[in-house]
Amino acid sequence: MSYIHIDEILEGKHEGETVGVRGWVHRIRKQKNMVFALLRDPSGVVQTVIKESAVSEEDYADAEKMLIESLVSVKGTVKADERAEGGYEIQVEELEVLHFAEEFPITEDQSIEFLNDNRHLWMRSRTMTNVLKVRDEVFRSAREYLRDNGFYETTSPMFVGTMGEEGAELFTVKYFGKKMYLTQTSQMHLEPQLFALERVFTLAPSFRGEKSRTRKHLTEYWHLEAEEAWCDHDCNIKRQEELISHMCQSVATKCEGILKEMEISPERLFRIESPFERMTYDKAIEYCQAEGLDISWGEDIRTEAEDILTKDRDSFLVIECYPKEIKSFYMKHNPEDPRTYLNNDLLAPEGYGEIIGGSQREDDAEKILENLRRIGDDPKKYEWYIDIRRYGSVVHSGFGVGLDRLIMWMLKLEHIRDSVPFPRTVTRVYP
Ligand code: 4AD
Ligand code: MG
Repeated sequence: MSYIHIDEILEGKHEGETVGVRGWVHRIRKQKNMVFALLRDPSGVVQTVIKESAVSEEDYADAEKMLIESLVSVKGTVKADERAEGGYEIQVEELEVLHFAEEFPITEDQSIEFLNDNRHLWMRSRTMTNVLKVRDEVFRSAREYLRDNGFYETTSPMFVGTMGEEGAELFTVKYFGKKMYLTQTSQMHLEPQLFALERVFTLAPSFRGEKSRTRKHLTEYWHLEAEEAWCDHDCNIKRQEELISHMCQSVATKCEGILKEMEISPERLFRIESPFERMTYDKAIEYCQAEGLDISWGEDIRTEAEDILTKDRDSFLVIECYPKEIKSFYMKHNPEDPRTYLNNDLLAPEGYGEIIGGSQREDDAEKILENLRRIGDDPKKYEWYIDIRRYGSVVHSGFGVGLDRLIMWMLKLEHIRDSVPFPRTVTRVYP
């Protein structure tokens, strides 16, 4: 027997035809002489009706024994029926239970903790299936934009010997008697590769040991990082704007049905169009002060300030030229204000926080050494990184997108862990 996916039935392509469908029992209702089973596959859910009079005695006995999540294959006729979810049902003629499931532990109204402990099973829920599909489109469209714009996809090591981002804590790993770290960013191994390829990106996990138990932090998150030669601060911001708007347009188009099912207007993503509004760090601080926040120049823009800056916006906001004290040593100094770097963050609307951190990179080896001396760090650790500036140093910039956080904003998720199949947070490493 050949099989079709359920969405074809729901699209009305097979009315009146005999079809084969296989999937898992999503819900089941048993009546006298009749069993109603909702079947699920990756594409959707359809009602099947198994009448005692329409199938063999054996098949009917099996249907009566089935529990939720049993794996079945059915053959039957498609009928339009307004009462059925999705508007169609399959009137079953043959049924084979390929696996009788045990009593499924997940039932309605269970605690978030219980669902997280049973993530390996919760994965099958409509909610998780939808999130995973959007996640796929986010990854796909990011790659599409970058490839179409001449970027090569490459990789960087996860075991590293130096710190990448100040402030974010490192996970230490025992490495054959040596101490190594799990990388916080692929940036430093991406930069040398642009001397070979000019435009490069990587899509990989980054690891952060911050103890911050906020709804926006994972200890392992998916980081899309790009580096581009011949690209200055303005070019870097334009790249970020185009990438983010491309991803939003793609998700709005390709996942329209899912968005509507999750009660999110696709318009919310469609209106994310490049360019975004830009605000200097100076102006952002003044704005927060005027709104009554106790913050002074030199402090980082954290949750409260982010909320003030983005709560009434319906698109992304670029904040640029942060003070050197709160950003990393590898950034290019701002010729118009020596207290700041040519860097930027990108804030999501509605208080979802920082989605991107980026900067023009310092391409002068001497200046990087100067930065390291100023902050009291040991230049020896960064020998190789500084070395790339000694042989044909080129103007370049780059940025890193927190993909899980972007998905969190797209789908209005309560917690960043809900955007990941198997989240890792300070308190969760199971399953
Ligand atoms: O701002 P960050 O720390 O920047 C860097 O790592 C740069 N080296 C990137 C680059 O220029 N190539 O991190 C970039 C983004 C943040 O804006 C945020 O979206 C996300 O990574 N991020 C996290 N996402 C989830 N959980 C965490 N703990 C995160 N920490 C950062
Ligand atoms: Mg940052």
